[in-house]
Amino acid sequence: MPKSHVLIVDDEDLYSRALARILKRTGHTISCVSNGAEALDFVASNSLDLVLCDLKMPGISGLDVVKQIKESRPDLPCIIITGFGSAERSLEALGAGAYWYLEKPFEQERLDVIRRLVDQAIEHGHLKAENRRLRGELKGRFKFDRIVGKSDALQQMLSMAKKVADTESTVLITGESGTGKELVAQSLHYNSRRASSPLVTVNCGAIPEELLESELFGHVKGAFTSAHQGRQGRFAKADGGTIFLDEIGDMSPNLQVKLLRVLQERSYEPVGSSKTRQVDVRVIAATHQDLPVLIEEKRFREDLYYRLNVVPIEVPPLRRRIGDIPLLVNHFLDGTSGESPQRVSDAAMDRLAAHPWPGNVRELENLVERLAILCQEDEIGLGDLPEAIGAPAGCAVPETELPAEGLSLNRAVEDLERSLISQALNRTEWNKKRAAQLLDLNRTTLLEKIKKRELTPPS
Ligand SMILES: Nc1ncnc2c1ncn2[C@@H]1O[C@H](COP(=O)(O)OP(=O)(O)OP(=O)(O)O)[C@@H](O)[C@H]1O
Ligand SMILES: [Mg+2]
Repeated sequence: MPKSHVLIVDDEDLYSRALARILKRTGHTISCVSNGAEALDFVASNSLDLVLCDLKMPGISGLDVVKQIKESRPDLPCIIITGFGSAERSLEALGAGAYWYLEKPFEQERLDVIRRLVDQAIEHGHLKAENRRLRGELKGRFKFDRIVGKSDALQQMLSMAKKVADTESTVLITGESGTGKELVAQSLHYNSRRASSPLVTVNCGAIPEELLESELFGHVKGAFTSAHQGRQGRFAKADGGTIFLDEIGDMSPNLQVKLLRVLQERSYEPVGSSKTRQVDVRVIAATHQDLPVLIEEKRFREDLYYRLNVVPIEVPPLRRRIGDIPLLVNHFLDGTSGESPQRVSDAAMDRLAAHPWPGNVRELENLVERLAILCQEDEIGLGDLPEAIGAPAGCAVPETELPAEGLSLNRAVEDLERSLISQALNRTEWNKKRAAQLLDLNRTTLLEKIKKRELTPPS
């Protein structure tokens, strides 16, 4: 163990000197003061790893010293030194926040125990401090400015997310695959008052249906054949924090009922138990699916949808915020561990911005990572882009020749639009969501166009 600084607070010279001697031999640096006031002064102005404090001292008592230290330096461990046989006072010491207590006198045969106790207390303090630092870092990692993008579409989404982060509201995050839904969910949690409690993620699509219930709510011993032991579910693990239900659209109707009950009552029963458990969680859900369509198809419960959709946040697809593409590309290039930072040529950047990015930010991130590894030059050029992206971004419309007598452009565009919309609808058997995807339109725009042109499904 590296050298640690220990403060001994004791008005009885004899004991403190004995203790100092024991600990010095183990390699610790020792400072001694003889009353509570001096101890608090010393703690305020020195870096310390442990305080050993006598219980009975004139002036401020040992218990009060510990209580005050715990307020200003919660990670600094304190051990109370008590007179022989004062078991009750020892309990009080623990109640005041002491790590442990040590009985006087320090007999020869207990020296090992004392040394070990001191080492353990110091390590405990270091771990607590480390834990606090990591939590702080984790919080920093999920600040909203980690979500890169200046486009209106992204900024509108972010402003909504910032407003709702530090509330207890249930949030439903929607958006295509790879748009950053999980990133948003993490930012919501780490910018809420629940940030120092756990964020527990459940991917409802990845866990087989028969396991999901026990995964969410836990089970008691013997609940099913292989349940040799009871197990805590994710709701219990998230108690005090946030549960993130990812891919909620994939949850089976059976479980949807149970989830609805937790959302309504904040209570549930573990599998195999009839005892109701209460839980204090904030719920964030996400899906890439169109839940209203799933409701129409009777695959998602409408009542659950309304419970989840208290605050909807829609993460826009990358092709609707192409202004963010250069920022994201540079952000991902900065994150790669190349020796000299690379850049992307203007022509290549234009080409990247013209790509439709069906896999959204994740697809872009993967490509940038690949380019950074494969391209040896400082500048990534057009020629470095893969064929699918490097190909000129054109559309598959056959070239039309302008008739000698000219034409009405509006009328021609109108006809072309009607023809393409009809084809998309026919090809998808009038599934408007899929037709809208084929045409790269959002669903409502397609619905407006269908109405305006009075298109009707074939009877
Ligand atoms: N605006 C952004 N700025 C920086 N990184 C982003 C941004 N959006 C997404 N990313 C990154 O892109 C990747 C995909 O994001 P994320 O996993 O949050 O997407 P998702 O919507 O949950 O996808 P899926 O539906 O496939 O689960 C992650 O590595 C994430 O860090
Ligand atoms: Mg995700």
